[in-house]
Amino acid sequence: MRRYLIAGNWKMHMTGPDTRTLIRELDQSIGRNPRVDVLVCPPFTALAAAREATASTAIGLGAQNVHWEDKGAFTGEVSCDMLLDCGCTHVIIGHSERRQLFSEDDSTVNRKLTKVLTTELIPILCVGETLQQREDGTTEKAILDQLEAGLKGLTPQETSRMIVAYEPVWAIGTGRTATPAIAQEVHAAVRDWFDRIQGSEVAANIRILYGGSVNPGNVSGLMAEPDIDGALVGGASLKAESFSQLCSF
Ligand code: PGA
Repeated sequence: MRRYLIAGNWKMHMTGPDTRTLIRELDQSIGRNPRVDVLVCPPFTALAAAREATASTAIGLGAQNVHWEDKGAFTGEVSCDMLLDCGCTHVIIGHSERRQLFSEDDSTVNRKLTKVLTTELIPILCVGETLQQREDGTTEKAILDQLEAGLKGLTPQETSRMIVAYEPVWAIGTGRTATPAIAQEVHAAVRDWFDRIQGSEVAANIRILYGGSVNPGNVSGLMAEPDIDGALVGGASLKAESFSQLCSF
């Protein structure tokens, strides 16, 4: 039985003091929902504060990006070991903002994913179609191409540890959420792809999150769909009130 995961992607928000306050408020307001795991992904600079603040809570800690090399002359980058050293258990890979604004492509995503899967970190691989692709009727192809290229060379033994986040680009930060039916259709296609390429066991167990303008008003409809196992939340994860409501959908 898959457990839900509600993950907050804080993006470029929150200083150390802001982080301590938000996590304290979250800890006080998040009910203990036994079906739900909760994760926050602060910016790198707030990870130390977040580690301290989450220490005696049930809130997990993730990062928003990682480099595939262990160390070296890569100004501005951080390695898997550095994230583990900060207490991270998860890391987001291939978010559409990284793909669109920082020129990440499927091959860099593949390098990151391959590296992360050699460590204890759990990758959350983001895939999603643009508005153009949806209007052209090529959504499924776009998503499956990203999976194909992103997971190139990886075996079921490796991919059984990963999480996928389906985030339609047109729904991120726009207030336009995919309807539960639209999201479910893509989630089912993703699970079916895993079934064909990585085997039935990986497909049955892999958690597939939905992301894109998830809020307290639409979360329960989305989570009621059979192949939606949680949410990756941007804007609504920055306030304790909305994020805690999301976690107890
Ligand atoms: P949003 O962001 O919830 O603000 O749309 C989601 C994401 O980018 O992960």
